[in-house]
Amino acid sequence: MSENFVIDRENLLGKTPSESAVEMTELVLPNDTNLLGNLLGGRLMHWIDIASAMAASRHSNKIVATVSVDSLDFRHPVRMGELVILKARLTWVGRSSMEVMVKVYAENIKSGKTALTNKAFLTFVALDDNCKPTPVPSLHFETEEEKKIAQAAEIRHLERLKRKSKEE
Ligand SMILES: CC(C)(COP(=O)(O)OP(=O)(O)OC[C@H]1O[C@@H](n2cnc3c(N)ncnc32)[C@H](O)[C@@H]1OP(=O)(O)O)[C@@H](O)C(=O)NCCC(=O)NCCS
Repeated sequence: MSENFVIDRENLLGKTPSESAVEMTELVLPNDTNLLGNLLGGRLMHWIDIASAMAASRHSNKIVATVSVDSLDFRHPVRMGELVILKARLTWVGRSSMEVMVKVYAENIKSGKTALTNKAFLTFVALDDNCKPTPVPSLHFETEEEKKIAQAAEIRHLERLKRKSKEE
């Protein structure tokens, strides 16, 4: 870690996960669906990327780049006309990287019923004006639950780096 990196980081005020949390709601329209009238997986992945990038940008006050998306399971289909609610929240930060957890819910407008359909973890890197990784504020946890989630996130981060170095 360079000396400048440490000095830069010390000048940044830490933030809580709540300060950067994002909630984004989308209505599933015909153009978002496949031939069965279910939400396209690719469209949902796009929304997940956008919601989580907004949380990472809010935390860092920087432009961010997606560097990793963990596996994504589709638990049940989302139908045309339903609402998709994406809740994105920071779980862990490194020096320039941030993990964001996104939970996706489908809401049926007529019944008012809501179901969790997906959960995903994405990693973003904050970039400076030269598109180089730049330090991000530390993450201040408000609850024991947030601390536990961060411990698990640290393990996921190490796994991703292992996977990356194997691929290289
Ligand atoms: C973002 C980018 C500039 C970073 O460059 P890099 O050479 O990987 O930079 P570094 O090796 O210094 O890594 C920067 C940080 O990213 C983390 N990182 C890099 N690859 C990662 C991966 N696959 N998974 C998790 N973290 C990763 C590193 O651990 C490091 O974190 P830290 O600063 O918190 O310790 C470069 O990876 C890039 O341009 N990637 C493409 C991004 C993109 O096009 N995304 C899609 C559109 S947004």
